[in-house]
Amino acid sequence: MLTILVINSKGGSGKTTLTTNLAAYYANRGFRTAIIDYDPQSSSLHWLQARPATLPAIHAANGAPAKGNAHLSSRQGWVPLDTEVLVVDAPAGAGGLLLKDLVRKANFIVIPVAPSPIDIRATADFIKDLFLVGGARTANARMAVVANRVRNRGSSVYIALERFLASLKMPFLTSLSDSEVYLRSAGEGLGIFELDELVSGRERQEFMPIVRWLDGHFPNRFGVRSEDKQAILEGSRKWAAFRAGSATGRFPAFQPSLGK
Ligand SMILES: Nc1ncnc2c1ncn2[C@@H]1O[C@H](COP(=O)(O)OP(=O)(O)OP(=O)(O)O)[C@@H](O)[C@H]1O
Ligand SMILES: [Mg+2]
Repeated sequence: MLTILVINSKGGSGKTTLTTNLAAYYANRGFRTAIIDYDPQSSSLHWLQARPATLPAIHAANGAPAKGNAHLSSRQGWVPLDTEVLVVDAPAGAGGLLLKDLVRKANFIVIPVAPSPIDIRATADFIKDLFLVGGARTANARMAVVANRVRNRGSSVYIALERFLASLKMPFLTSLSDSEVYLRSAGEGLGIFELDELVSGRERQEFMPIVRWLDGHFPNRFGVRSEDKQAILEGSRKWAAFRAGSATGRFPAFQPSLGK
């Protein structure tokens, strides 16, 4: 299973928007996909409730603690064992043990940032926390940032955001426009890739670098690198042969040497 953590302690930066769109994208590609929603407001889970049953299914798990800042409990965060892609929608203000736990379990960390001086400052602090509190340096996750809700690419605040994101020691993948298309798809339980391309062409194009970056580091379809998969296949073939043999009594018996 590959785990994509979408996180920024700053509220409203686009975590749920990225989570739901990534989940819809991978579900459409045929991956068994799940979302864990850590937001007490359950925005991703509400999106899933609105999702038409005719579309590729996405499993929903509620990771939000009932009260306080309890860290991840495996029962609350239950996802099916055969999940291939898990997208984690982190809550605003995630810190402490929860942050550590989320980082430790992630293969990828995607950080959306909105173009505003307050968001830039809060994100700078959050990235420090990610390393100091979350242990991101020693964790195995690959990290990247995304600008979200961009209105005017010529504005001084966008230029400041671009400069900030480019200065970080992690890839700055793309800038997503502030667009009605996200609002519309969110309300209907859809991802932008599930709307007509005529409606969502620009948004899809802007979103693709995130998916390309993830895909570039994705092992093959079942979350196992191809060489590992080969070994597993080999192993399961031997096991199947062994079982077939013993079940029918044809498993070759040990023939002691007759002293030749
Ligand atoms: N690119 C975008 N264009 C237009 N609206 C957007 C875009 N990204 C997010 N939004 C809207 O902005 C609001 C906040 O986004 P979202 O819920 O994804 O942020 P969040 O980081 O999950 O917030 P929270 O911290 O409260 O969980 C939502 O109403 C969402 O639909
Ligand atoms: Mg959210």
